[in-house]
Amino acid sequence: MTTVDLPLLPLGLGIDRGSERGVECPGDLPAASDPDLVARALAAKEALGSRLFVLGHHYQRDEVVQFADVMGDSFKLARDAAARPDAEFIVFCGVHFMAESADILTGPGQQVILPDLAAGCSMADMARLPQVEAAWRALADAGVQDLVVPVTYMNSSADIKAFCGRNGGVVCTSSNAETALEWAFAEHGDDTKVMFFPDQHLGRNTAVLKMGYSLDDCVVWNPHLPNGGLTVDELRDAKMILWKGHCSVHGRFSTKVVDELRATVPDVQILVHPECPHEVVLSADLVGSTEFIIKTVEASPSGSVWAIGTELNLVQRLSRAHPDKTILFLDKDVCYCSTMNRIDLPHFVWALESLVEGVVVNRIEVDPDTERDALVALQRMLDLPGKTHKD
Ligand code: 13P
Ligand code: SF4
Repeated sequence: MTTVDLPLLPLGLGIDRGSERGVECPGDLPAASDPDLVARALAAKEALGSRLFVLGHHYQRDEVVQFADVMGDSFKLARDAAARPDAEFIVFCGVHFMAESADILTGPGQQVILPDLAAGCSMADMARLPQVEAAWRALADAGVQDLVVPVTYMNSSADIKAFCGRNGGVVCTSSNAETALEWAFAEHGDDTKVMFFPDQHLGRNTAVLKMGYSLDDCVVWNPHLPNGGLTVDELRDAKMILWKGHCSVHGRFSTKVVDELRATVPDVQILVHPECPHEVVLSADLVGSTEFIIKTVEASPSGSVWAIGTELNLVQRLSRAHPDKTILFLDKDVCYCSTMNRIDLPHFVWALESLVEGVVVNRIEVDPDTERDALVALQRMLDLPGKTHKD
């Protein structure tokens, strides 16, 4: 039996403090309606000067983005966090797994702060360490574990990254998944298999569309079924064992809307993120990471028409930045990433003003053992040869 029965988590009841680390924000937040929030944020930022470095993911709200020293996708932000050893405080406007990665990649004298601890990621939560360890044991029982290289998407908790570091694996992001898989598949020659966490779509899209594997080479490991829902023969035959996880935003785009847009909007080009389902990516004109999407729109000629399948904050910002182009959101029923949107101006101001008063709130601190092993997998990613990032 290889399922792990994880209890349902009745959040907020104080039953399991470890798993509830994101549900409380005890600070005395300024009101969202406070007309002075922008001035307060500016004043706090100025008071902190070079002690402070603010990182912002492209999916963040405009009200927060205006204060970011650097904007980027998760790969760029991980690299930028590591490149500012002089900054005492890294305020991360993004989600929990990104702040954890920043903590791992920064020095002991630096503190990483996530303005709202409820800014988690539903995809990252779909792969939990006891489930992953159970799957790993099942691979040993099937006699294939020695051939499997674990690869985790950046969108995973630090303990999953540490698992990959301990077991000869690597981290990847949407901008270097192909390079990371090339590295992984070379580890044990032609017999190599990859177990990919937690986003089945990024794993499948990269293996099939970029590396020439077939859909039949891919199987899906469902952590809620005995033996992942797979037979021993299926595990032995697979090249790509995909964890059954997905993004609750990108997973909702559909080919139905792509077809409707193609029928109704002349010259529309469909541009999507590789977290979208395989059939959506197949129906698109272009697929790529967040940075790729931005650069593609920037480089396109005036008058171009785009329908973009990624987070809405970014698509709206692209639309405003390029009034000479028509930029549509791919689906009217898909909403903002609710956890990215948790970082708002009141939380940002609260975090900064607390620092000015000498109080560090909402620090994200990965325990030393996890940090050591996760750094191995993150460093393998940062050391990947060649086209690790298209910038
Ligand atoms: P990238 O930043 O790697 O494009 O990932 C997208 C995402 O979903 C971040 O949460
Ligand atoms: Fe997680 Fe998807 Fe939100 Fe990114 S967009 S933080 S993967 S839920």
